[in-house]
Amino acid sequence: MAESSVVVCKSCKKPYPITAAIFSFGEDKDTKTWDSYWKRVPIYDEILDFLRKMMNLQLKRYLKKYVHPSEKTLEPGGGSAYVSAMLQEEGQEAFALDYAALPLKIARDTLKSKATLVQGDMFNMPFVNNSFDLTFNNSTLEHFSNPGDALKEMVRVTKPGKFVFVGVPFTYGPLAMYKLKKSSFKGAWDGKTYDRTGLKKLFKDAGLEIVGSRTFFFRCFVGVVGKKTEERQE
Ligand SMILES: C[S@@+](CC[C@H](N)C(=O)[O-])C[C@H]1O[C@@H](n2cnc3c(N)ncnc32)[C@H](O)[C@@H]1O
Repeated sequence: MAESSVVVCKSCKKPYPITAAIFSFGEDKDTKTWDSYWKRVPIYDEILDFLRKMMNLQLKRYLKKYVHPSEKTLEPGGGSAYVSAMLQEEGQEAFALDYAALPLKIARDTLKSKATLVQGDMFNMPFVNNSFDLTFNNSTLEHFSNPGDALKEMVRVTKPGKFVFVGVPFTYGPLAMYKLKKSSFKGAWDGKTYDRTGLKKLFKDAGLEIVGSRTFFFRCFVGVVGKKTEERQE
C-alpha cells in the first residue's frame, strides 16, 4: 500500500487519508487527551505492557470460542490492539479502530501488527451494518458517559447471529481501589467499575442476548458476551 494515499466515500465523495497503512476516519475531533494517555512513561509503561500482554493473551483464548478461522473481528477503542494482532496471526481477518493515532502507530511499528488499523470514532464507525463476526473491546466503555451508545454502535456493525464482547473493570476486584483516587495515574479514568448485573443490563438495553460472562485477569475485569439476534437487521 502507498505511504500516503486516500480512500473516497462512495456516497459523499469525501476523501480520507491512509498514512503508512493506517486508514484515517478521524474527522476533525480532538484526540489530544487520548494521545497523551498513550505517551510512554519509562518503566511504568514497560510494566503496563507486560501486564497488558498477559491479560490480552487470556482474553484472546476466551474470545476464540466465539469466532472461527477466517471470520472478521473488530476491536473498537482497542488502543494498540494486542488481541487483534494475535487474532490476525491466527487466521482471523482482524480490524482495530481507535480515535488516537499514537496507539495505532505503536501497533504498526512496535507490535508489527498485521491487523487492519483504522483511526476513527467508535460512536460513528466507518463500517457498514452487519459486517463483523465478533466485535469486542476491553477497558474502553468505562471511560464514556454514554457507554450504551458505544455498545449500540458495536451491535450495528456486528452480523446477526454473531457476537459482541465487552470487558470493563470489575466492582469486586482490585481495580475498584482506583475509586479511592481522584483520577488515574494518566488522568484518563475516574474509576468507574461494573458488576455483572450492571454490565448485563447494558447488553440487554442494546438488544443483545447474553450468552456468557466471566471475570478475568485476577478479577480486575468482568466481561460479558452477547449475541445479536438472528432476526435483527439494522
Ligand atoms: C483505556 S484505553 C484501552 C485500550 C485497549 N482496549 C487496551 O486494553 O489496551 C481506551 C482507548 O479508547 C480509545 N477511545 C476513546 N474514545 C474513543 C472513541 N470515541 N473512538 C475510538 N476510540 C476511542 C482511546 O484512544 C484509548 O486508546
